[in-house]
Amino acid sequence: MTERTFSIIKPDATRRNLTGAINAVIEAAGLRIVAQRRVHLTEAQAKKFYEVHAERPFYGELVAQMTAEPVVVQVLEGENAVAKYREVMGATNPANADEGTIRKQFALSIGENSVHGSDSLENAKIEIEQFFTEDQIVG
Ligand code: CMP
Repeated sequence: MTERTFSIIKPDATRRNLTGAINAVIEAAGLRIVAQRRVHLTEAQAKKFYEVHAERPFYGELVAQMTAEPVVVQVLEGENAVAKYREVMGATNPANADEGTIRKQFALSIGENSVHGSDSLENAKIEIEQFFTEDQIVG
């Protein structure tokens, strides 16, 4: 089934000028970038986006990292896009990520892990709506 998922290229990656390199991995995997925008997240935006992690010990650091420098928010489209992108990203902790994945190639640590991708189709819809209107997504 053709799906859409939400992606963020995180500050650790934009800082190192890796947007194009990461997009190349995404496109090589057959996912299409159907919306994309560079944005410097506000604290309010980052807190809302990561609300589900509010009680976790790393929440404060996560919000600080995500607002430190610009990110690139994206909508990716393709067959089974949610699961496919999670495969392409690799494990949250880059130490556990498979060869060829984005996190294996580029991530610095579990916090500075270069990319975010939705974990379910339901969350993808919620996350996409936080950053894009339907007319900004061009499939
Ligand atoms: P992401 O997919 O963006 O979702 C939550 C983020 O929290 C995760 O990627 C990590 O970058 C970050 N994080 C920091 N520390 C941890 C941790 N101990 N366990 C899980 N996620 C963590």
